[in-house]
Amino acid sequence: MASYGRDRLPVFLDCDPGIDDAFALMVLLGSPGVELLGISTVGGNVPVELTCENARRILELCGRAQVPVAAGRAQPLAKTLVSAEEVHGRDGLGNINLPSPTVPEAAGGGVSLLIDKLLAVPRAILLATAPLTNVAVALQEHPEISGHIQRIVWMGGSTGFGNVTPAAEYNAWADPEAARQVIRSGVPFVMVGLNVTHQVALDRSTLAHYRTLGNPVAETAARMLDFYVTFHEQEAGTDRSPIHDAVAAVAAIYPASLRTVSYPVDVETKGEITEGATVVDLRGLHSDQPRIEVGLEADAGFHLEVMADSLASFSAA
Ligand code: RIB
Ligand code: CA
Repeated sequence: MASYGRDRLPVFLDCDPGIDDAFALMVLLGSPGVELLGISTVGGNVPVELTCENARRILELCGRAQVPVAAGRAQPLAKTLVSAEEVHGRDGLGNINLPSPTVPEAAGGGVSLLIDKLLAVPRAILLATAPLTNVAVALQEHPEISGHIQRIVWMGGSTGFGNVTPAAEYNAWADPEAARQVIRSGVPFVMVGLNVTHQVALDRSTLAHYRTLGNPVAETAARMLDFYVTFHEQEAGTDRSPIHDAVAAVAAIYPASLRTVSYPVDVETKGEITEGATVVDLRGLHSDQPRIEVGLEADAGFHLEVMADSLASFSAA
């Protein structure tokens, strides 16, 4: 068991569940000391209504139905949403048909929930594992929330290769305008890009281990991730599957588990073949660009250990 001495860590999650978002949520809920303030969901992997239902499905599965959830923006700031059911299934959770949620979403919408929950605490981590549409709108509408954000930890972007195009990662590509606005906002920002998340991969032996943990959350994670691993087997010919959002969750909880360097970064919003690329100035020559913490190296063994330990923390009943 990894050792976890820590104080309480207030976290707000903005996500688009989505299999790896759902797994990231399980990691948050299963990690000691994390105080999940609330969840806003956004149109991304699947339409926003379904991302909201899925977040509530996972909360109820984990016995945490009291955590407030609300759907935010359905569409990116400027583009039209392109979803990713081929990766996450038509239900967004690997077609495992989890029971519909019984607790309704919070009133007022996801952007208002994000704003209200951040303003209610002195400082919190904003973990974003989706296109940054909600976060951009929240900062536009209430810039004062920036004083309540210790840091934004975003699964998105890359220092090099993309996944939707050769140049762009999905969360940046889906809403490049939002990504540019949030990165330029000056709020402390940690980018957990594909260059990092591909260092932390699970495979079918990982899923087999999850199935031995003997509780419904771990079993559901294994069922959900089976679809995700199958997609990667078909796409890349290997069962090694980068578990993007869960890596960002571990990095948010345990910042020392990710090595970062401060670089100027901007987001391409107009490129014919580079739209959505997060352009990292690795030589730091363009000082007029905003500097953010760019993730370079994860302690993969620790990340996988935290993921397994968080699943093991749920009761068998
Ligand atoms: O590129 C991977 C990211 O896009 C992950 O957050 C995944 O859930 C999708 O949203
Ligand atoms: Ca996601």
